[in-house]
Amino acid sequence: MIVCHCRGVSDREIRSCVRSGGCSVSEVSAACGAATGCGGCRPLVTKIVQSELDAQNRRLPTLQAVLLVGS
Ligand code: FES
Repeated sequence: MIVCHCRGVSDREIRSCVRSGGCSVSEVSAACGAATGCGGCRPLVTKIVQSELDAQNRRLPTLQAVLLVGS
């Protein structure tokens, strides 16, 4: 499924970036380009990153976790 329409990035690519060591939305964005355009996909990108980190028993940095809970 395409998550970031500005950059054409799928949920699979986002999850792959996390599995390759990305541990924040910023790192994943830098790696695959997701959420670097209009920013409209950022909440969903954040949720996917958190979901993948949860699957690996890892955590988002605190500020991103707060933003995720507030969205
Ligand atoms: S839809 Fe992802 S940055 Fe615009």
